[in-house]
Amino acid sequence: SQGRRPLVAGNWKMNGLRESVGTVEAVRRALSPQLAERIDVLICPPSTLIASCVAAAEGSSIAIGGQNLHAKPSGAFTGSISAEMLADLGARYVIVGHSERRAYHNETDDGVHAKALAARRAGLCGIICVGETREEREEGRTLDIVRAQLAIGVPKGATGADTVIAYEPVWAIGTGLTPTPADVAEVHASLREMLGQLIGAEAQAVRILYGGSVKPGNARELMAVENVDGALVGGASLVADDFLGIAAAY
Ligand code: G3P
Repeated sequence: SQGRRPLVAGNWKMNGLRESVGTVEAVRRALSPQLAERIDVLICPPSTLIASCVAAAEGSSIAIGGQNLHAKPSGAFTGSISAEMLADLGARYVIVGHSERRAYHNETDDGVHAKALAARRAGLCGIICVGETREEREEGRTLDIVRAQLAIGVPKGATGADTVIAYEPVWAIGTGLTPTPADVAEVHASLREMLGQLIGAEAQAVRILYGGSVKPGNARELMAVENVDGALVGGASLVADDFLGIAAAY
């Protein structure tokens, strides 16, 4: 869509022991050169596996990313990992403001903004997540919610090279439910328009992913929607064949 290179990203969440590095190897083996030519493929394993996944992906076009970061570069923040540390491991992307971080770790839009800035500082591409809850959708507030999340989260001067947006309706995550293509089209168009207000013409270069119960069986329909520039995949990214089946929608 409009010259934007599709991105199919897997978010393993808190899943995977060392043997799961084999999933990266399996994706690498099965990813055809033709597909790798057309799309970007990203896997975000838990932090414990980033280094070994980077090694497993080395020399291929598969990128590895983090799922979260601390906004500060270093310091007395026990248990936290900075953007610089992720970059030092060879990560190229980091997910920012996933709804699970917002729900279970009290992440705010301002916190998301700070983390997105930190990602840029370290040369990582930040994947900023937005999305409404079921209640917010039922109240007809979806566009207000996601536009506000975007307006606060996206750093000034963001570009297509350092920023990706992921629209993940909270009620669609891990539930098997998805919005209709028309609903996805409406939200993505609204996000694109809001991006235009925030960063001007560069909005056309920023990829907007859809996430929430993307499976091989629905990927083609969802990925064909205007302004959908790829997928952020949870559960189905844990199985190489399913993840590749989604990538094959391109
Ligand atoms: O970040 C991706 C995720 O939240 C979607 O999860 O399992 O519904 O694909 P899932």
